[in-house]
Order: sequence, then C-alpha cells, then structure tokens
Amino acid sequence: MLKGTVALVTGGASGLGRGTVERFIKQGAKVVVGDLPASKGQSVASELGEANAMFAPMDVTSESDVQAALDLTKQKFGKLDVLVNAAGIAIAHKTYNSNKKMAHSLEDFSKVLQVNTAGTFNAIRLSVGLMIENTPNQDGQRGVIINTASVAAFDGQIGQAAYSASKGAIVGMTLPIARDLSKDGIRVVTIAPGLFDTPLLRALPEKVRVFLAKSIPFPQRLGSADEYAMLVQQIVENPMLNGETIRLDGALRMQA
Ligand SMILES: NC(=O)c1ccc[n+]([C@@H]2O[C@H](COP(=O)([O-])OP(=O)(O)OC[C@H]3O[C@@H](n4cnc5c(N)ncnc54)[C@H](O)[C@@H]3O)[C@@H](O)[C@H]2O)c1
Repeated sequence: MLKGTVALVTGGASGLGRGTVERFIKQGAKVVVGDLPASKGQSVASELGEANAMFAPMDVTSESDVQAALDLTKQKFGKLDVLVNAAGIAIAHKTYNSNKKMAHSLEDFSKVLQVNTAGTFNAIRLSVGLMIENTPNQDGQRGVIINTASVAAFDGQIGQAAYSASKGAIVGMTLPIARDLSKDGIRVVTIAPGLFDTPLLRALPEKVRVFLAKSIPFPQRLGSADEYAMLVQQIVENPMLNGETIRLDGALRMQA
C-alpha cells in the first residue's frame, strides 16, 4: 500500500530515518530525505536512485529550510502523503553535577528541546499546508504524520532530563495535534522506540551495547532500523491508528 505514496522523512540520512527511507523505496514509494546539509543525505538519495529519492538539505528548526524542502517535494513528486519525523539529537548531563559543582547548561537543555520538540512541530505545521491539497480517500484521509519520541519520555534515566522532556513533549502533543487535524483528514501517531541499533548507539563500546541489549526482556537484542520502519508502514496502512503513542521496545522498562 506504500506504492505511489510520497513521503518526507526528516533525519532520513541515518539510523531509524534511513531505515524508513529504504523500506519505503523498496515498497514503491517516493521519498524526500530531509536532513542537515552536512549529513549523508545526498549519498543516500543517490544510492537509492534519483528517480525515487531526493535529498532536501534542511535543519528541522528552520521555517525557511522546511518550507524549501516541501516546495522541492511538490516540484519533484507533486504531493506529500506522509511525514516521518525522525530527526533528533541526544545529550546526557545531570541536572546538577556535584563533583564539578556545575548546573546543567540551560543552553544545552534549550537546544535539545528546540531540535527534538520544536523541530518536530515545525515540520508538522508546515507539512499540513501541502498534505491538505491531496484529494481525500474514501475515509476522507489526506495524509499521515508519524513522530519519533522515545521510551525516555516515560522512564528517562539519570542524565536524561533534557532528552526526556523533549520526547515527553512529543508524546503530549500527539493527541491535540491529531484532534486539530482531524477535520483535515490527517492522522498523527508517535512511536516511542526502546533501544535500536543505529549510529547513535553504535558509538558506544561493544561491552555497553551487550549490557544494554541484555536489559531488554525479549527479544534480548537491539532493534533494527527496519523493525522501526515496519511500524511506520503499519501506521500508514492502518487507518484506525490515530492520536496515540506506541512503544516499540521488547518490553524494556529503563532503570535509573
Ligand atoms: N536509536 C535508538 O535507540 C533510539 C531510541 C529512541 C528514540 N530514538 C530517536 O529516533 C530518532 C532517530 O534516531 P537515530 O538513532 O536514528 O539517530 P541518528 O543519529 O542515526 O539519526 C538522526 C538523524 O537526524 C539528523 N538531524 C539531527 N539534527 C537535525 C536537525 N536539526 N535538522 C535535520 N536533521 C537533523 C542527523 O543528521 C541524523 O541523520 C531520534 O529522534 C532519536 O531521539 C532513537
């Protein structure tokens, strides 16, 4: 059912976003890879074939960048059916470091909220303008928006105040945005991933990765980007999924 669908995937040059781009293209969709100018977005698009994939260099926090990516989407593929928000950053700092007698930097806190939360909202609010031009299907649906939170929205660990706040906000805005856009026939669903094998986690030492994988009840391994992408596909294909956050975590509940 993804055949003929046009999607914009933010953070599409790496990890979960890239897995989504690859799955969508394999299933016959056209995809715009939205990512930072310095990312691997261009090589990902070239590898997948310029007829089906296009790189749109953009910072999700910039109104003009996101609007330019949407204009490119319309120009190249004629419409937008699906927005997948997978761009994100993570930091780990305690609220107060008593060894260094230093409080968490307010600048770092704001930056994580700016990229993860405001960036997600920016892409959503601007994408609606293009989705709304679609002819509605038999249900009246014009588009689907999928966001990426994290299990840290619910059980954030030590050092995750900023990251958890940014992801909790995505969970919190899912229902009101779904309600806002219901009259326009646009569904909004958020995925809260557990631990996935992406460049973000690949940077950790093997020992730490094995330890993390063991903390997952079942299956005791990191998830793959394609398993995330499988849920993205299901959300697009299942018209009853709306206004909800779905944990994708092998029953993981993070400990302090
Ligand atoms: N990997 C995991 O285990 C995991 C778990 C829970 C949630 N997540 C979330 O999933 C999302 C994807 O994570 P990932 O593991 O694939 O990470 P990743 O680092 O592999 O990919 C993130 C992508 O986002 C892009 N990006 C960062 N800031 C951006 C900006 N301002 N504008 C546009 N693009 C930007 C990066 O260039 C990168 O390509 C993130 O939101 C992350 O918080 C990941």
